[in-house]
Amino acid sequence: MTVMSIKKMGDPLLARQAKRVDLHSEQLIADVSNMIDTMRYYQGVGLAAPQIGLSKRIIIVEVDHNIRYPRASRIELNVLINPQIINFSAQKQSDWEGCLSLPELRGKVTRSCHITYRAKTLDGATIVNSVNGFYARIIQHEIDHLDGVLYPQRMDDCSAFGYEDSLPAY
Ligand code: NI
Repeated sequence: MTVMSIKKMGDPLLARQAKRVDLHSEQLIADVSNMIDTMRYYQGVGLAAPQIGLSKRIIIVEVDHNIRYPRASRIELNVLINPQIINFSAQKQSDWEGCLSLPELRGKVTRSCHITYRAKTLDGATIVNSVNGFYARIIQHEIDHLDGVLYPQRMDDCSAFGYEDSLPAY
């Protein structure tokens, strides 16, 4: 198991546009495996490659009895390479988000309720998938990481931003 250290907000790599991934790269399996170990170790529900210092368009998502998100429904492990959102619903919803790159903080972010995304899987297949709710929120959050965007940049009300152990509403 390889747990990588997580880059925190302020690190220039997190503000950069990540590079498209060559699916034939020999490093790909190792990178993804390190991402999975790191996400699980830190109890993330998603992780983007720039968070472990890789400027690559890879995200992973998984929810399985997560202590940081105890109310979230289970989502099986997804590895998405060069993912792209091809449709955002006009209907939006505001909800709390956290991020391993901003430890102990939570903020309320407005995002589309439903999205459709396209991505490559590890075996090179193209998938198109429509998701909603928390699942759609995680995908939007993680793809933002690939474009150098952290969730505070998406917030329209900074009064709904603070530490997990201090926010009364969270
Ligand atoms: Ni994040």
